[in-house]
Amino acid sequence: MRLSSIAAATLLLTIACQPMNTPPQPTPMQQPSVPPHSWSNPEEARVEHLTLDLSVDFPAKQLVGAATLRIAMAPGARKLVLDARDLTIERVFGASGDLQYRMGTAQSTFGAPFEISLPAGTKNVTIQYRTSPGAAALQWLEPAQTAGKRWPFLLSQSQSILARTWVPIQDTPTVRFTYDATIRVPKDLVAIMSAENPTERNATGVYRFRMLQAIPSYLLAIAVGDIAFRPLDARSGVYAEPSVVESAAREFVDIPRMMTAAEQLYGPYRWGRYDVLVLPPSFPFGGMENPRLTFLTPTLIAGDRSLVSVVAHELAHSWSGNLVTNATWNDFWLNEGFTTYLERRISEQLYGRDHAEMLWTLGGKELRDEFDLLPPADEGLKVDLAGRDPDEGSTQVPYEKGSLFLRLIEEKVGREKLDAFLRRYFDEFAFKTMTTDKFIELLRTRLLVPNNISEADLQIDAWVNKPGLPSNVPMPRSQAFALVEAQSAAFGRGTAASSLATSNWSTQQWLHFLHSLPKPLTTAQMADLDRQFRFTQTGNSEILEVWLEHAIDYGYEPAYGALEDFLVRQGRRKYLKPLYTKMAATPAGLERAKRIYAKARAGYHSVSTQTIDGILKWGN
Ligand code: BES
Ligand code: ZN
Repeated sequence: MRLSSIAAATLLLTIACQPMNTPPQPTPMQQPSVPPHSWSNPEEARVEHLTLDLSVDFPAKQLVGAATLRIAMAPGARKLVLDARDLTIERVFGASGDLQYRMGTAQSTFGAPFEISLPAGTKNVTIQYRTSPGAAALQWLEPAQTAGKRWPFLLSQSQSILARTWVPIQDTPTVRFTYDATIRVPKDLVAIMSAENPTERNATGVYRFRMLQAIPSYLLAIAVGDIAFRPLDARSGVYAEPSVVESAAREFVDIPRMMTAAEQLYGPYRWGRYDVLVLPPSFPFGGMENPRLTFLTPTLIAGDRSLVSVVAHELAHSWSGNLVTNATWNDFWLNEGFTTYLERRISEQLYGRDHAEMLWTLGGKELRDEFDLLPPADEGLKVDLAGRDPDEGSTQVPYEKGSLFLRLIEEKVGREKLDAFLRRYFDEFAFKTMTTDKFIELLRTRLLVPNNISEADLQIDAWVNKPGLPSNVPMPRSQAFALVEAQSAAFGRGTAASSLATSNWSTQQWLHFLHSLPKPLTTAQMADLDRQFRFTQTGNSEILEVWLEHAIDYGYEPAYGALEDFLVRQGRRKYLKPLYTKMAATPAGLERAKRIYAKARAGYHSVSTQTIDGILKWGN
């Protein structure tokens, strides 16, 4: 039995024996009605359009104003049910005056069902409300947490079910709506959204937005701050704080070529402009595919464009995810696995086959590492997240196992046929949702049957429902990595770092080198590597993170200062999680982790504190 299944079995026992200690589980009556994470009732009354009118109050850390919803009602519909979490509702009214409403019992992650009575014929419902200072989607940054140090900053992160903490909405990927917004900000600041954006400041502090394509709630996004803009070409550009925008524009200069490559493969870009916003370093993700305006972490700015596959990834979501959307969070791999596959195809087009093979290999390594930690039930592409925070499904499985499944299909039917299939898929299901079962059906009828490929050959069931990797998993091969492996092996045999052949290595080669070093390393070996390659001082966040993991594992104290600095100055969860986890593995490390966390926590977004609180058992 593997460790993870022992852990899962223990957990089940614990739940069975101690019902008093488990978090409240929704009873069947209380189960969110749009399975499994929303209380809303779109079959009865469905939101078609959202109009926001919000003032951004930095001192109070609140959005205050109104959301007007245009509703499509089924015959006989009596009520509209929205999702709401930590919202203060002040008044609800329609054309005929005030409407009756009721806020149900809140369940932490899911919030509450917010029921509004609808007189027959209601078209529009206006909700006057304010958000709470602790709204989980929003992060209110002090000036000290920005690059400019002068102005505060507000950012949002709505995926997966955090939109309900800043907008009363049907917070499920099955409901799509258009929106417009009026956002009132302090007059020195600029607001931007996942919509048509201004590229100029205005003196009034009132910004207006329109989103003409229907989107699901998880793609609602807003940022407010001292934000400047640099165009890249006629339809793309970079937003960032003024002191960051030049280096950001240099780093992401390949965006126009990425767009062209993606369009050649998957059809026209359907969202008009594609801009990116580089956020302050507390942004909890590498990137977030907010339509027309990808949000990015500044840790991607390495100075040599070596981390831009994240941008290719977020751009690719303009097809997989934003056009064809996972129907539920159980089908999340349809968003992320497809996008990871597309990301690698775009990267191959721009930077060559061997570069893409490096990305595939690094991704595969992260997946195999994660399998050691996951319960087997979460290792299939299709997962069951009913009653759980959908964030628990956000592992390497939907990304890397998902993309490997598409690569396997490519290997079986040939690239040309898969490309034609995908192109048709994005056209046919644009602005619609997709389930795993429906995709498998399409795969069967459109690719497997016509090409005489049996399901057993593909091992569909093993990919979709079983733990681990099936025996037919594709094996990426990079020549550049073969060179690296020779050098890490030589180092393992005692060759000094100064005698290794490492000239002109790419970031990805350095990452592979660090992954493939012999284990364990002595502190003398760590010191030798550090003296020669200056890892502790690297400005490349990806390399630094892996190096710092080694430093924790092998007790390499000269890097501890850099470790603390890294954990305090940025809040990207992908970096925080392994570092805090490794520190927590020893009593002395745990103590150090807690001391650093006490200092850093206030600077992190709720998405990150939620994860790290769990790792350090913070507040228990
Ligand atoms: N959509 C995701 C981010 C996300 C996933 C937010 C689930 C909330 C819940 C985004 O496209 C993403 O995958 N970002 C990755 C980068 C990517 C290159 C793997 C990240 O931030 O690490
Ligand atoms: Zn993604």
